[in-house]
Amino acid sequence: MASKLLNFGSKLFKKTTQLIINGAHNNRRSASTSARNWIEKHPKLLAFGTLTGAAGLLMFALDVSVEASSDLVHPPAQNWGHKGLLSAIDKEGVRRGYQVYKEVCSSCHSLQYIAYRNLAGVCLTEEEAKAEAEGITVQDGPDEEGNYYDRPGRLSDYLPRPYANEELGRSANNGAYPPDLSYIVSARKGGEDYVFALLTGYCEPPAGFALREGLYFNPYFSGGAIAMGKLIDNEVVSYADEEVAPSASQLAKDVVTFLVWASEPEGDLRKILLIKVTLISTFLIGITYYIKRLKWSALKSRKIFYLPELQEKASKAASKAASEAASSKNDNCKK
Ligand code: HEC
Repeated sequence: MASKLLNFGSKLFKKTTQLIINGAHNNRRSASTSARNWIEKHPKLLAFGTLTGAAGLLMFALDVSVEASSDLVHPPAQNWGHKGLLSAIDKEGVRRGYQVYKEVCSSCHSLQYIAYRNLAGVCLTEEEAKAEAEGITVQDGPDEEGNYYDRPGRLSDYLPRPYANEELGRSANNGAYPPDLSYIVSARKGGEDYVFALLTGYCEPPAGFALREGLYFNPYFSGGAIAMGKLIDNEVVSYADEEVAPSASQLAKDVVTFLVWASEPEGDLRKILLIKVTLISTFLIGITYYIKRLKWSALKSRKIFYLPELQEKASKAASKAASEAASSKNDNCKK
């Protein structure tokens, strides 16, 4: 991003300096006087331009210095199948990823904005989703006598939370709270690349790095010490589809694909909508342009003349006619 900006800036600079030099060469005097005239006429615009330019440069410099001084390794960009305006999310991956979430992550992380009905038609059939929901117990009530009771889950229920409250979650995890994963891909810088790198990036801490008891080293996590241990490894989950080997990177890819879907369940619909809007608006803009030309053509091609001599002649003729009429009236009276 920064290098692109820099490239663009240097190109723009080269072009403008060339333009100025050429202009000065061709017509030295008039170029400099017209520039001075322009500056004298637009002092506010000039001030605005200078200020915005300065602010842009400051932001650019800050961004570069923050990137360079951050205490983590930047996640490499992966070649995700769902990236790009015309690619849908890999639903097989979402299905396998749900299995990984359920078997590994759900013991610590909630997914509070996803209900079983959201899974139906995406990564489970309706029957499968119903069966999944029935596997949990939900407290409902109050009934007619005012008591709360437990019932098996329904499609409309949300995925269960592993801890009843944050305090319980913290006390079970060395004081660190496992965040809700519903929006984690949208909420972290780097998105899916970050979560993938985090899950697969555990390694030995470098020499001299002091790790507190209960923390693990992960270079992609800010500060390097994370309270979540390495959970994704080869074959920690076994897939029903034997053609997909449950290697660590495959499991991480699948669970991240599931989390991408979870943070934007309507993502595919939005891409379809974008295609529709682009096609329809291209058509409508074309028609609007044609109609505008049609309606304005009479107005734009008519000619209005202003000829004072003609008008003078006409008014003289009129006054002459009037005086003649008046004199003939007088004659009539005399008779
Ligand atoms: C044993 C409990 C446990 C399990 C199981 C677990 N996590 Fe975590 N996770 C944590 C804790 C605790 C944190 C908070 C870490 C911290 O703040 O130091 C965390 C943090 C995270 C974060 C946020 C990191 C950040 O940038 O703040 C992500 C993403 C995450 N976990 C993903 C997963 C995924 C995906 C799985 C399943 C493959 C999983 N976790 C399984 C305990 C767990």
